Amino acid sequence: MAQVRHSLSMRVALLTGGGDCPGLNAVIRAVVRRVLADGHEAIGYRRGWAGVVDGDSIPLGRANIAGLLPRGGTILLSSRTNPYADGGDGTAIVKERFASDGVYALVAIGGEDTLGVAAKLAADGVPVVGVPKTIDNDLPGTDRTFGFDTAVQIATDAIDRLHTTAESHDRIIIVEVMGRHAGWIACTAGLAGGADLILVPERPFDIEAVCAHLQGRHQTGRSFSIVVVSEGATPIGGEQVTSGGGTDAFGHARLGGVGVWLEQQIAERTGFDARAVILGHVQRGGTATATDRVLATRLGLAAGRAVLDGNFGVMASLRGTEIAYEPLIRALETPRVLDPRVYEDAEVFFG
Ligand code: F6P
Repeated sequence: MAQVRHSLSMRVALLTGGGDCPGLNAVIRAVVRRVLADGHEAIGYRRGWAGVVDGDSIPLGRANIAGLLPRGGTILLSSRTNPYADGGDGTAIVKERFASDGVYALVAIGGEDTLGVAAKLAADGVPVVGVPKTIDNDLPGTDRTFGFDTAVQIATDAIDRLHTTAESHDRIIIVEVMGRHAGWIACTAGLAGGADLILVPERPFDIEAVCAHLQGRHQTGRSFSIVVVSEGATPIGGEQVTSGGGTDAFGHARLGGVGVWLEQQIAERTGFDARAVILGHVQRGGTATATDRVLATRLGLAAGRAVLDGNFGVMASLRGTEIAYEPLIRALETPRVLDPRVYEDAEVFFG
């Protein structure tokens, strides 16, 4: 891709799409600081692609990015709007908006859906750079996503707290965590929190084996157990267990509910007192960990640099300890599921 340096002031736009994620504001701050430092200006479209479609934007200067580092959520707000939904000509819509707003290029911060739209735009010649984001840590093309570390820390804190109440009441507590079809959050938080069993989407579970494992623990003197289950975990030969229903603009089913199903099954089959705790959106709320703030900042600076260099159609990503650029299209490859070695490490402590 051609490397271009611009002496005239350019207007760079940003947006955040999809589920929010701790660290988004750190990315926004870094992109804006990078762009301003080179004498250019920045605006933010609000509510993801909806802001581009509706022409809803705000200027982003030093004043409105001050104090952003520790702030959760996204000051640009987010949505799961898809400009290509229902046969819409997303490319024409975006090109027209950029022309009327005088936008030179866009930094799109999001997961597979937001970056999928960005990749289509890039293929149509729209100047776009991506920053990958999801607490689920399952995006291909990067070794880790910001927000994951924070979600794991929140889930680990919860598991620590649930240990003491489970012990006080001789209970089995089932902790349901997010992650969609990847068990990264469940397995990493379960390993950090000392879970007695972890159920992940990558390994469909046998409910009889789950109950036998818990009974075995309790027969050998343990009076309580902590089971961490990913929202996407499924029983062998069974359907995905969900309580909500419905799909978003990108066709994703709403997950969640397997924890409550497990509570009922375990209580019925073992006679143990069981309780399900669904951590849900707590895992996405509030301030990001230092690790996530630093990763988000490094990715934001790299995305800003790519725009200034005219290096479009790429996303900033983490490779080992280094920030690299990957083609945006890579975000659409098969999701990066849990490394089985991480599960095998956690499994050692299930007894
Ligand atoms: O992809 C991030 C994520 O938090 C998933 O872990 C979860 O399944 C989903 O988003 C929840 O989406 P929503 O905020 O639309 O309920």
